[in-house]
Amino acid sequence: MRCVVYRGVGGREVVAVEQRPDPQPDRFEVVIAPPFAGINPADVLQREGKHPVPPGWPQDIPGLEVAGPVVAAGDAVTAFKVGDRAFGLVGGGGLATRVVANERELAPVPDELDAATAAAAPQSFLTAFDAIVMQAGLGAGDLLLVNGASGCVGTAAVQLAAALGARVVANVRTAELRPRVAAMGAEVLPADEAFARVRELGGADVILELVGAPHMADNMTALARRGRLMLVGAKPGDEAVVVLRDLMSARAQLIGSTLRTRPPEQKAALVQEFLRRVVPMLASGRAAAAVGEVFALDAAAEALDHVRTAGKFGKVLLEMPAA
Ligand SMILES: NC(=O)c1ccc[n+]([C@@H]2O[C@H](COP(=O)([O-])OP(=O)(O)OC[C@H]3O[C@@H](n4cnc5c(N)ncnc54)[C@H](OP(=O)(O)O)[C@@H]3O)[C@@H](O)[C@H]2O)c1
Repeated sequence: MRCVVYRGVGGREVVAVEQRPDPQPDRFEVVIAPPFAGINPADVLQREGKHPVPPGWPQDIPGLEVAGPVVAAGDAVTAFKVGDRAFGLVGGGGLATRVVANERELAPVPDELDAATAAAAPQSFLTAFDAIVMQAGLGAGDLLLVNGASGCVGTAAVQLAAALGARVVANVRTAELRPRVAAMGAEVLPADEAFARVRELGGADVILELVGAPHMADNMTALARRGRLMLVGAKPGDEAVVVLRDLMSARAQLIGSTLRTRPPEQKAALVQEFLRRVVPMLASGRAAAAVGEVFALDAAAEALDHVRTAGKFGKVLLEMPAA
């Protein structure tokens, strides 16, 4: 197989594309040949030594998600056969032409999805669904504030919340992207106006924080009584002052979350809920992952840098050669 490799910790200079032996599936694993591979901010953090790879996964091949046809399956696999398309999570090794995944962390790709849209979906929609629905309990009639809403997770959250019948206010700092996020079902504003709007509406039942420290003080005063603040994105080293009185007087909850480090059984349970409640929305077109810039595998270093570019829209993808 060909794959992206980190030859150490650092910047663009540690990124290489190498030929490696094809991985072999364990009993409950499949091997997928992804036509496209999604790149995430965590892949860039891993390159910088700030996002440890869980044990048991390739330590020097980045990539947290996978989508594509199954090309080999372990003898105990029951959910997929060779030729089926699957998408879901991996703990590492996703930026490769052959990717090993546990069958329990995969869902079938609906026929309606093309290869690029399928590749852009798993990490964003699983993260957003897990945070706002499974953990924060967002429901019809609730008010959701999304901070950092023009990103992959943010756009997934806006669409999921709108489809569930929640009202969504979204904070998008790049003015040109506001109409695109608004078309997904949100009232889209710059940060200060978004917080003011939410307060005017009585406070957010759920805030999805995808940026971190700069918003924390405002978040505390924008929560409704018993609101839930889901902290999903924050720069490493970002520190914020939380006024405890604000948290207490709102009787609110501050919930931090990561997906990659969870035990496999918890990821499997999440993927089953995703299959039941989110995949039908993706199949019907009620929600769709945005596809951003597509780079050739050999341009992986450039693609990883592009993930940090302000004003981008949609998932940065690598187009993977067939072999
Ligand atoms: N905890 C987990 O399990 C988990 C899972 C997935 C992702 N994450 C994290 O969640 C965050 C979002 O992920 P993603 O995949 O959606 O990344 P992404 O596609 O790169 O989106 C990041 C978004 O944040 C926006 N942003 C950055 N600084 C901002 C600011 N000061 N004000 C408003 N918006 C700002 C960006 O807008 P601009 O274009 O204007 O910069 C962009 O829309 C990342 O930090 C990622 O590491 C965590």
